[in-house]
Amino acid sequence: MAVSRPGQTLTIRRPDDWHVHLRDGDTLQAVVAHTARPFARAIVMPNLKPPITTVEQARAYRERILAALERSAGPAVATGFTPLMTAYLTETIAPEELERGFGEGVFTAAKLYPAGATTNSDAGVRDLSHITPVIHCMERIGMPLLIHGEVTDPAVDIFDREAVFIERHLKPLIDNHPDLKVVLEHITTSDAVQFVQSGPANLAATITPHHLHINRNALFRGGLRPDMYCLPVAKREQHRLALRAAATSGNAKFFLGTDSAPHLRHAKESSCGCAGIYNAPYAIESYAQVFSDDGALEHLEAFASLNGPRFYGLPLNEGTITLERCEHDPAAAGLPAILKLANGTANPTRVVPFHAGEQLDWRLQDANNPSTAFTES
Ligand code: DOR
Ligand code: ZN
Repeated sequence: MAVSRPGQTLTIRRPDDWHVHLRDGDTLQAVVAHTARPFARAIVMPNLKPPITTVEQARAYRERILAALERSAGPAVATGFTPLMTAYLTETIAPEELERGFGEGVFTAAKLYPAGATTNSDAGVRDLSHITPVIHCMERIGMPLLIHGEVTDPAVDIFDREAVFIERHLKPLIDNHPDLKVVLEHITTSDAVQFVQSGPANLAATITPHHLHINRNALFRGGLRPDMYCLPVAKREQHRLALRAAATSGNAKFFLGTDSAPHLRHAKESSCGCAGIYNAPYAIESYAQVFSDDGALEHLEAFASLNGPRFYGLPLNEGTITLERCEHDPAAAGLPAILKLANGTANPTRVVPFHAGEQLDWRLQDANNPSTAFTES
């Protein structure tokens, strides 16, 4: 890693996104180039409707992702990007299907959604004991289990659901399966940080940019803010600070996973708005801001480009990206407030990105700027 101070440019090994929602159809086509711009690989979440539960579905989805990327950003970008597919665990999924998909290099990991915990999780797992053979199989073959770590018990306060999940479900799971590779996804609490830090080497966690930037006040700043709503929901400031300390520490157990989760504007701004923050357009810049604000730029490369592949047992990427420190311009308008897909349809895709209207201190030096995929609306 080369850092030139006072900080004009920062060059790091090309990073990966270890947790992203790319959706399907028009939205896929609209968003995929944003992820492929800085990231060489991405762990693609399987919570489509219907969910990705078979090897054939994953193979077909992977092809749709690459075709959409080729259409939106051209063949050179598409060949430089590898979607890493995941299986959606249901209570009826067969261990043999997972083992075959993992063996054939189609499934990189499997995702556990507690049924009802979040968007498109209804087909998920109601009772972990119902998938014991699946967990044994994954432990045996070394297939990572990616966990949405929240209980769904309506009696548990929504801000406590991650901490309670760790106590009720994650601790016993890890005790009973000492060789299982587990990623606790998008952690939001100091409880999760401590649990992962003190756990075995085969337990790691991803951290999103939004949970590093916002606490739960952001949801209610001057009114209800649907664009700040995601699951697990942002917590108190003390938790955000614990996440920042973990991410910027260089500890190999923490790595980049954006959980970029686009929902169309009308679906967010509704009487029952969807959970999900769309951060892909400026994700690496957003992380760079955190690391530079905390004086830890020397650890950005470990978090973004080294810790993830090492945990997954995958090679590090060749190549680099360069981030450039921007001049803060008080007169400038900031990042686009609404992005509209320039796809020429009668009903264009509109999404509000994280950091809309703000300025970030870092910019990716890259020809494939998001503005080529979206126009401001
Ligand atoms: O906020 C979220 N949105 N959290 C999730 O777990 C799912 C995601 C989505 O798919 O929209
Ligand atoms: Zn997610």
